[in-house]
Amino acid sequence: MLGAMETSVPLHRIRISLFEGVHARAVEVLEGAGYSVELHGGAPGEAELGEAARTAHMVGIRSKTQLDRAFFERASHLWAVGCFCIGTNQVDLDAAAEAGVAVFNAPFSNTRSVAEKTLCEIIALHRRLCDRSMGMHQGRWMKSASGAHEVRGRTLGIVGYGRIGSQLGVLAELLGMRVVYYDPIEKLAMGNARPLAELDDLLMAADVVSLHVPATPATSGMMGERELGLMKDGSFLINNARGSVVDIEALASALSEGRLGGAAVDVFPEEPADREAEFESPLRGLENVILTPHIGGSTIEAQRAIGEEVSGKLIKLMNNGSTTAAVNMPEVELPLLHERHHRILHIHRNVPGVLSKMHTIIAEMGVNVAAEYLQSDMKRSYVILDVDETHGEELRERLRREVEETVRVRSIW
Ligand code: NAI
Repeated sequence: MLGAMETSVPLHRIRISLFEGVHARAVEVLEGAGYSVELHGGAPGEAELGEAARTAHMVGIRSKTQLDRAFFERASHLWAVGCFCIGTNQVDLDAAAEAGVAVFNAPFSNTRSVAEKTLCEIIALHRRLCDRSMGMHQGRWMKSASGAHEVRGRTLGIVGYGRIGSQLGVLAELLGMRVVYYDPIEKLAMGNARPLAELDDLLMAADVVSLHVPATPATSGMMGERELGLMKDGSFLINNARGSVVDIEALASALSEGRLGGAAVDVFPEEPADREAEFESPLRGLENVILTPHIGGSTIEAQRAIGEEVSGKLIKLMNNGSTTAAVNMPEVELPLLHERHHRILHIHRNVPGVLSKMHTIIAEMGVNVAAEYLQSDMKRSYVILDVDETHGEELRERLRREVEETVRVRSIW
């Protein structure tokens, strides 16, 4: 069984190259698993990428490293890429899948960070804290209770009751807020939160509306002039979701005309490419508007959690063959491998007849198959065979040589 003293490949010979200063926790977890980890501070140059393609079994990156088709065509030993971040746009996912390389990311590790930031903004908007603080920095003593409210007893409307939305609801109830939510999918209500059947009902009921939906065609511009017009006079809008969700010009009008009492916005239709570029927005300079540079999920704790989440997925693939939560491959969650068995991991092009070729070889060899798993998408299939240890290596080699649709094959024990 893997993790025992003897394994199919000595664990220290499994090489992983980490770039862009991936959190130290990832290094700890991967070294703890026995692998050889190479850590690079920045994004790789051509030479470093070439070396990783030639030697690494796994590569870990964040958002700056571009892994294109040419990289995957060269990466002959590579089994997985870990994106230690949320997005995976920097990786050519199709090319990776064609090369049999699974790509993982960490979509859940910053849920708490976004929920806490939103909670903070709910209070800050009700007390106009950012304007007061800015006034003090400019030498103005704006002591007044005007426009300042407690959040206790107020109604929070959550649009999108997923991971972040539902966690926010729980935290807001602890402050004594009433929570309503709208989600087209039926979701189990946490605490005393109340689902509403229509978005319009929520907009009319809430003192503060917080958006936690994904960027999809259905959510694009979902908060436009009409929807903002339905919100209560003096209420607040928070967008820590995606820039495409809110019509930013319509929001700027609602704020400057005083129909809304304020807003907190972290994400924008167009965001500056880097720190040097100037941030332009019709929201700049408006009263009681908190603007932040897409930092909803950016905390040390989230980085650490990302380090753990992605490393865990890489280890599970290497040691057990599971592709659970891979973003570009058929997902298979595998049980532990039993002693005296070999597990053969076979990725092949999804065309008719491959399974029958594999089964013919198995029958010819008289292999005793203890378990067989299969998952496919339109282009690829992932077959896992747990077989008696006496046949493992020969079967792997015959599959490699005789099944021409094979993309990648490896065995673990
Ligand atoms: P999730 O997938 O757990 O939840 C999204 C929810 O929105 C689901 O329950 C879904 O049914 C619901 N939904 C989908 N379409 C809807 C619609 N038309 N109306 C109402 N609800 C709808 O996602 P999670 O993890 O809670 O993330 C939510 C958003 O937060 C995502 O857009 C994500 O990209 C964003 N995010 C932003 C960060 C930042 O740095 N500001 C960091 C992390 C996430």
